[in-house]
Amino acid sequence: MTATRQVQPKLIIHGGAGSSLKSKEDVAGVRQELHQIVQQVYELLLAGESATVAVVQGCKLLEDNPRFNAGTGSVLQSDGQIRMSASLMDGERQRFSGVINVSGVKNPIELAYFLQKEEDRVLSDYGSAQLARELQLPLYDPLTDLRLQEWLEERKNNFAKKMAAVIAERPSGQDNARRGTIGVVALDKQGRISAGTSTGGKGLERIGRVSDSAMPAGNYANAFAGVSCTGIGEDIIDECLAAKVVIRVTDGLSLFEAMEKSMKEAKQNGRDLGAIAIDYRGSIVFGKTSEVLLAAYHDGTKIGDSLQWPEGKLVSGV
Ligand code: GLY
Repeated sequence: MTATRQVQPKLIIHGGAGSSLKSKEDVAGVRQELHQIVQQVYELLLAGESATVAVVQGCKLLEDNPRFNAGTGSVLQSDGQIRMSASLMDGERQRFSGVINVSGVKNPIELAYFLQKEEDRVLSDYGSAQLARELQLPLYDPLTDLRLQEWLEERKNNFAKKMAAVIAERPSGQDNARRGTIGVVALDKQGRISAGTSTGGKGLERIGRVSDSAMPAGNYANAFAGVSCTGIGEDIIDECLAAKVVIRVTDGLSLFEAMEKSMKEAKQNGRDLGAIAIDYRGSIVFGKTSEVLLAAYHDGTKIGDSLQWPEGKLVSGV
């Protein structure tokens, strides 16, 4: 498909999935921050920016927000280090790029963006560090006090928890095991779709573990649809979720049908995950098997979010 038509831009972003937020203040705070980012990125799309530029900017804003588990505010791995992964897929060119387990940079999505035009487009830890040096990116420490505090608490409990928290919250004693990632999917005025995903990983994981976020299982787009996933990376990889939803749309299912079918399968398989998606017709959909998905969208007329929906939903479209 060639993208020559003029369409109403659409946008959906997420800040992770997992069990419910602890307090009303957390819900209100997350909602306000997600809505602000949606507003800022949607203005770029209205101004005629490409879906790819909008997705990169949206990911950067989410990476820079210390609440979310990507960029600043990333969780610590089992050895107390932060290693981040990010990927970008330009749906029109059906081109994937990404970095896996990079350290010491502010915005991993910027590296994924740079790699879009390269021949070698997915780099692991050593190569990503080399690239950051080549690009003369300043050394940056994404560690926040809250994430350090969470890790220290976990160390006291001998790392009994499977994962770190989806967003950085004040400890309350309640079990707050959650799964964090950020993601953005956009449809621009020319009908082009892009998807981007960035993460600090599960938290507390084994050194060298690879996240779904820099794989087509966790982030995928073509001319028909784009999807960004969040949740337990291994569950997303086993479902090959993002690519599966996109291919189902390519083969004729509506975006809602594709998401619903894929989530039904994921639920049957006992997975813990969520996904956001947009298709070429402008439909916006989210789906989840986890308790909560922190997603917000702009459908051309209004901003909304997924914070109060018990199930996945067709936000707008067909
Ligand atoms: N979905 C993020 C991760 O598991 O690394």
